[in-house]
Amino acid sequence: MRIRATAAPLFTPRTVKRAQAQARRKALAEAQRHARKVAEDARSAQRPAPEDQDDLAGSGALFPPGGRPGVASARGGKLKLPAHRVTTAVAAGAYPFLAEGGLGAQGLLIGQDVHAEAAFCFDPFELYGRLAGFTNPNLLLAGVIGMGKSALAKSIALRATCFGYRVYVPCDPKGEWSSVTLQLGGSVIALGPGLPGRLNPLDAPPRPAGVSVAAWAGEVRKRRLLLLSSLTRTVLGRPLTPMEHTALDVALDAAVNWAAGQHTVPLLPHVARILNHPDVLTKISGEVAGRLGDAVFDVAHALRRLVSGDLAGMFDAPSTTAFDPRVPVLSIDLSRLNGTGDDTALVLAMTCASAWMEAALSDPSGGRRFVVYDEAWRVMRHQGLLERMQAQWKLSRGLGIANLLVIHRLSDLLSAGDAGSRSRALAEGLLSDCSTRIIYRQEHDQLAATGALLGLTGVEMRAVADLPRGRGLWKIADRSFIAHHQLHPAELAMFDTDARLTETA
Ligand SMILES: Nc1ncnc2c1ncn2[C@@H]1O[C@H](COP(=O)(O)OP(=O)(O)OP(=O)(O)O)[C@@H](O)[C@H]1O
Ligand SMILES: [Mg+2]
Repeated sequence: MRIRATAAPLFTPRTVKRAQAQARRKALAEAQRHARKVAEDARSAQRPAPEDQDDLAGSGALFPPGGRPGVASARGGKLKLPAHRVTTAVAAGAYPFLAEGGLGAQGLLIGQDVHAEAAFCFDPFELYGRLAGFTNPNLLLAGVIGMGKSALAKSIALRATCFGYRVYVPCDPKGEWSSVTLQLGGSVIALGPGLPGRLNPLDAPPRPAGVSVAAWAGEVRKRRLLLLSSLTRTVLGRPLTPMEHTALDVALDAAVNWAAGQHTVPLLPHVARILNHPDVLTKISGEVAGRLGDAVFDVAHALRRLVSGDLAGMFDAPSTTAFDPRVPVLSIDLSRLNGTGDDTALVLAMTCASAWMEAALSDPSGGRRFVVYDEAWRVMRHQGLLERMQAQWKLSRGLGIANLLVIHRLSDLLSAGDAGSRSRALAEGLLSDCSTRIIYRQEHDQLAATGALLGLTGVEMRAVADLPRGRGLWKIADRSFIAHHQLHPAELAMFDTDARLTETA
């Protein structure tokens, strides 16, 4: 018997397939719902209370895996992209011109790369030769008052000592490096009226291995002459005449010869004494210089300031401290000279102190060293000091020294002199010899000048205007990063410069 089918079969291969697809879709939707709920729960667990949200943006804390909360996520409105995480290498390819691939993990941990949310490490010695366009290890750090410039410099110093690097601070006008230096096992030399510390800026550094006695004697003489002319020019406030240069030259040689005969070290008072006796000077210089003695009254009076004027008792006697190249940190506390309202004293002291320190730094086997010029904006207008700094900057690569110049604004460099002047050219030269420029917040009226000097993009200029404390735009060769400097609580306690303000509040 044949049975005729009157209705379509319940389970055909087609209906089975359709049912299976439906079940798969349902399961997928269910799984997605579940995943969303888990992610939302995790987000709400990590989301800060509304009152803390500003703090999150400013503190450099890591954002939750779901991304930045609130409007800052940029996922409101029409943009419905899901939050996701990728490695910085992938992000650099996926978002060209937005996300940086980073500098790698070598060197000192500074904090967090704000855009990549990765650790931000930096070491000028490691980058030299590895990063294209990174031609020197020098750094410039600029930012308005209280943004954390000194804290960053001190952190670099502290962390650098862990790598065996040494740190020198030739001028600490606020005395804020002293406690850090001592806590790191370094030595502090405090100079000022009434203090026992003395530095002889005419000290000859030990002769480096491989340099002949004659060549070294010539080098030491050159350094001493440069120092004497810097000092006199700073006091006189004008360049020296050729006769004055010759007078310093002749007086220095005479003082050195006299000291050698007495088996003692040459001192500034020896040079000043010869300059103060025109007849002696003329006699020594002979027919070559003519009546040299008559032409040097100004120079003699300028040096007198260091020997018997307001700076007497600091640089006019043999050094009370020998430069110990083994100490991890050495700082020269000039805070006693601060607050006189006249930066000339500070500049003279810094010139002598840095001459003394540079002499010791000239040993190329001295290892990797940082030289920190904190509060350098105060001395940028003094050509003699700029010339010394320029010489140090030029030597930095050969000697393994990274100079760190801390100023408030880029226009501090422009105020070194009129356009076209030598001082201005020197200051601009310092900037161009810094492959690393760290820009902390700048005042709005400074943005255009900053942008023009550093070649910042519009986005970078806007970022610089709103940076919170501790956060800076790092321009390293032709790479840019916004990095947040993270301080360990112990560092925060060690570096706190707000304490005095809070105490009196
Ligand atoms: N990254 C940071 N995180 C938290 N606190 C910081 C950070 N950087 C600096 N501070 C705190 O900010 C205060 C001011 O810092 P600092 O003295 O370094 O500023 P500055 O830019 O050097 O100021 P000035 O221009 O007056 O020398 C300090 O008490 C320091 O502890
Ligand atoms: Mg400071």
